[in-house]
Amino acid sequence: TGVGKSVPHDSAAMQVAGDAQYIDDRLEFPNQLHLYARMSDRAHARITKLDVSPCYEVEGVTLVITAQDVPGKLDIGAILPGDPLLADGIVEFVGQPILAVAAKDLETARKAAMLAVIEYEDLHPVLCVEEALANKHFVTESHKQQRGDSAAGLAKAKHVIEGSIHIGGQEHFYLETQISSVVPTEDGGMMVFTSSQHPTEIQKLVASVLGVPMHKVVVDMRRMGGGFGGKETQAAGPACMAAVVAHLTGRPTKIRLPRMEDMNMTGKRHPFYNTYKIGFDDTGRIQATDIMVAGNCGYSPDLSSSIVDRAMFHSDNAYYLGDATVVGHRCKTNTASNTAYRGFGGPQGMMTIEHAMDEIASYLGKDPLEIRKRNFYGKEDRNVTHYHQPVEHNIIHEMVADLEASSEYAKRRSEIKAFNAQSPILKKGLALTPVKFGISFTASFLNQAGALVHVYTDGSIHLNHGGTEMGQGLNIKVAQIVAEEFQVDIDRIQITATNTDKVPNTSPTAASSGTDLNGKAAQNAAQTIKQRLIDWAAGHFQVTPEEVIFKNNLVQIRHQMLSFPEFIQLAYFNQISLSSTGFYRTPKIFYDHASGSGSPFYYFAYGAACSEVVIDTLTGEYKILRADILHDVGDSLNPAIDIGQVEGAFVQGVGWLTTEELVWNDKGKLMTQGPAGYKIPAITDMPIDFRTTLVENRKNPEDTVFHSKAVGEPPFMLGISVWCALKDAVASVSNYKKYPHMDSPATPERVLWAVEQMQTWL
Ligand code: MTE
Ligand code: MOS
Repeated sequence: TGVGKSVPHDSAAMQVAGDAQYIDDRLEFPNQLHLYARMSDRAHARITKLDVSPCYEVEGVTLVITAQDVPGKLDIGAILPGDPLLADGIVEFVGQPILAVAAKDLETARKAAMLAVIEYEDLHPVLCVEEALANKHFVTESHKQQRGDSAAGLAKAKHVIEGSIHIGGQEHFYLETQISSVVPTEDGGMMVFTSSQHPTEIQKLVASVLGVPMHKVVVDMRRMGGGFGGKETQAAGPACMAAVVAHLTGRPTKIRLPRMEDMNMTGKRHPFYNTYKIGFDDTGRIQATDIMVAGNCGYSPDLSSSIVDRAMFHSDNAYYLGDATVVGHRCKTNTASNTAYRGFGGPQGMMTIEHAMDEIASYLGKDPLEIRKRNFYGKEDRNVTHYHQPVEHNIIHEMVADLEASSEYAKRRSEIKAFNAQSPILKKGLALTPVKFGISFTASFLNQAGALVHVYTDGSIHLNHGGTEMGQGLNIKVAQIVAEEFQVDIDRIQITATNTDKVPNTSPTAASSGTDLNGKAAQNAAQTIKQRLIDWAAGHFQVTPEEVIFKNNLVQIRHQMLSFPEFIQLAYFNQISLSSTGFYRTPKIFYDHASGSGSPFYYFAYGAACSEVVIDTLTGEYKILRADILHDVGDSLNPAIDIGQVEGAFVQGVGWLTTEELVWNDKGKLMTQGPAGYKIPAITDMPIDFRTTLVENRKNPEDTVFHSKAVGEPPFMLGISVWCALKDAVASVSNYKKYPHMDSPATPERVLWAVEQMQTWL
């Protein structure tokens, strides 16, 4: 039960049976208050009147809070200010919380909140990214990465294509919406139960809004019902509102955002508007590239600076861009503040170059896969990114060759051409696309983690670390690592809730680095205890340290065998400390923002997917007939969990690029506010034939925990193969004379319009 085995997720059985506890399943406190936040219905306005007295006319209302009632700091911006907990005189998006009502139950609170009188004087809202871009209406400064002289390169290039693409955002749609339950403590502090990827930040911000030191606040996080990036910063607002109420009333307070409120109030994946100009030769090899990415950040900075940076870092995907300039803008618009979402801007960055690959292929009349392969980073040359990080241990060539063979790309390509030639209405499409994704937080200091391991006198082990479980299997992987170190069965290890008073000053669980960081920290803690035990046993039994061997739930000391519990008992009686913290920081990485260069990533994770679709040219509807995935997780810690992550990420990526469409009206109001209007993939949207394989016998060459690789985000971008396959199917309508220009998401409507576009080419 150590590493490398498909140990089931520790909560799987409980989750299936409905026994796993989420915040809302916790017992209610007898005098607990429930909160409802009233949101702005204007995109940009001055509040001219705010009268909350009518709220108190509803029976069961205890308190109404507005910005003025926050005892400490009002702003809860994660990195930069810009996010008032409650609107202070100005509202900047439809959905911004203005006041919160605390009442005996949610319905009462909601009813009362709607009675507050709010009057506005409208201001000009910026609702489109192009307008923000044209007026340099940015939340933070723009950034540039450059290698060589792209202008000169483009001038020299034989062929040049240029264009632009709009890439849609994405609602996180975690099953468990934002929720926190807080309990005031006797010392003026707060115990916070929250569904957050970043307990330390909740601790810091709760302390800050209350005006108390961080040591007064304890945050406990057992599991999230999905996070996907949406709970990296944005769990903080509800948690802080509840804390303020609990502080002012002295009563336990809970807030759970109903789905519609969650969708209106919280930020999403950033929509992007990207432009490109690419020069290439007759073979399709890129010589020069100019890319501009403009992220629609919403009204405040949140994490947008790092997200747009990551889009820039991934504008190359797996390709050498030649002389390249990549510029990134952080556009300010009057919508909810867009935030982390699986891939963290990387997917939006990759879309431009993947789109361009299809354009180059169509321009030269070649197969898109040939163009993609022609442009992969080289092994000896053409192997430095546009931000000057060398691409080492690149395995994309071999992986794509393997997948091309195992998916029978060439054979299916000709079968599909033959099918399309004789099928007037249904058309099939095929695409094979790569992923190269950089692993590490690009804000280098975040690449650190802590852990706490106790061995009790009966040989059972208590495991705690700074990472958070959101379904991805972090806890079981870290438990496997500790089991491996002590050579004991996994059921000897108790996984516990993430808690700020056990492991302090943690980073968010994000950037796919949860296991890389916390796994190493827990390993470090386990090794510290083990080394103490070995040193003691060597003296105690008069053997060499090498003769103390942990194996199979036993400890062998030269010729003597003790069970692990017996050995631990003995160590305890000999006064050996059986508890340790552990710590880890990622080596080597750095990035210099001023020059736009460095090595921000410890390593790259690779993947490739080949997807086949069929479209109905009369309606634009489609199906994924087959998807073949080959993905690189280094030496897998847990193949079952990893395959689950790969498949889940792929389907989520497909949802982003196909049916998940966010629609706002011309007043900036989100019209897709629930599952009726916003369509995430369901079981019937899965590929009919789904084949996922992990690359075998490929350890991560870097010194990661048991030479594994991060898996959470990289396979999300394999969904791009479906978007490209849809375009390929559409292109068949023009006999492949032209690839359609299709913004994402490729909803059935867009596919239909693209078909109509093609018919003009016949
Ligand atoms: N898997 C599940 N089931 N639920 C989630 O919320 N979040 C994803 C990914 N996989 C997520 C998930 C995101 S955005 C990230 S960054 C990683 O998990 C975070 O966890 P890790 O670093 O432990 O991989
Ligand atoms: Mo993931 S978007 O880094 O939480």
